[in-house]
Amino acid sequence: MQNVSKTPSIRTIEQVIDETPTVRTFVISDNDLANVLPGQFAMVWIPGVNEIPMSIMVMPENGKAAFTVRKRGVSSSALYDLKVGQQIGVRGPYGNSFDIKDGKIALVGGGTGLVPLLRLAKFAKPNNEVVLLMGSKSKDEVFFEQQANQILKNHKHQIISCTEDGTYGEKGFVTDVLGKLLETSKFDAIYTCGPEIMMHKIVQMANSKGIFVQASLERMMKCGIGICGSCCMDDVMVCHDGTVFDGGFLANSKEFGHTHRAKSGILENY
Ligand SMILES: Cc1cc2nc3c(=O)[nH]c(=O)nc-3n(C[C@H](O)[C@H](O)[C@H](O)COP(=O)(O)OP(=O)(O)OC[C@H]3O[C@@H](n4cnc5c(N)ncnc54)[C@H](O)[C@@H]3O)c2cc1C
Ligand code: FES
Repeated sequence: MQNVSKTPSIRTIEQVIDETPTVRTFVISDNDLANVLPGQFAMVWIPGVNEIPMSIMVMPENGKAAFTVRKRGVSSSALYDLKVGQQIGVRGPYGNSFDIKDGKIALVGGGTGLVPLLRLAKFAKPNNEVVLLMGSKSKDEVFFEQQANQILKNHKHQIISCTEDGTYGEKGFVTDVLGKLLETSKFDAIYTCGPEIMMHKIVQMANSKGIFVQASLERMMKCGIGICGSCCMDDVMVCHDGTVFDGGFLANSKEFGHTHRAKSGILENY
């Protein structure tokens, strides 16, 4: 049974890895977080700043967990600027996890949305053939290709990088490349995490072809444990009932891909 902490445990940052000019990975020792299921997340407390939800990156060493952070607003920038030896608080793991089907599966992610997908890759079944589509804006924002190859080394797999400006790999959005793939290849399941507009398109594409699909949603979260309602979408709490939802549920959502809650709780359009 999983050990779920409801109060933050203090952890020291042991290593900082520069992935791209705006993305860094922070390594800590934490046995519970090292072994979370794919799709689960932790709440990360940056002392004096905020507490934000983060997916938990797979590390090769036993007992090590990591957070891969893109510098965006105040909280992510404060985390991004932390150095080796400084401390953060972590609580969790929270949320459900992906339901990994047999056969040929596609993992489609953009940016830090790749974090839960690489953990899914680690949990792939022996009979899974894995196609990983990695989206980024340009060559200097491509990361995790080497880690993905390492994690999938015992599986038949293909890694396709897509850049919006065409400076690396396929030119275009992952959704365009997935669309072309679906014309020629048969998939048993598709899993996605990243910007919601991207996931909305992927869910529509999979649903229209009758392919099992799941998306891990990144909604505004404050408590992370189903109390505050910040992450409410339709009548579910994304932190507590997700973050992973099936394509059938998402197809009927009035909010998925259309509106999201801002920090104040008001609904905003995408
Ligand atoms: C379950 C879950 C897992 C997450 N995992 C990760 C992770 O592994 N790595 C990571 O870097 N972030 C992750 N996030 C997002 C993270 O929690 C923060 O929302 C994000 O870092 C921005 O926080 P901020 O306070 O710095 O920015 P804010 O002040 O909230 O926003 C600054 C700017 O960034 C934009 N922004 C905010 N959140 C996002 C987002 N999720 N995607 C794109 N743009 C955004 C805002 O629209 C705004 O323009 C996750 C979120 C959830 C719910
Ligand atoms: S973040 Fe508070 S209910 Fe989900």
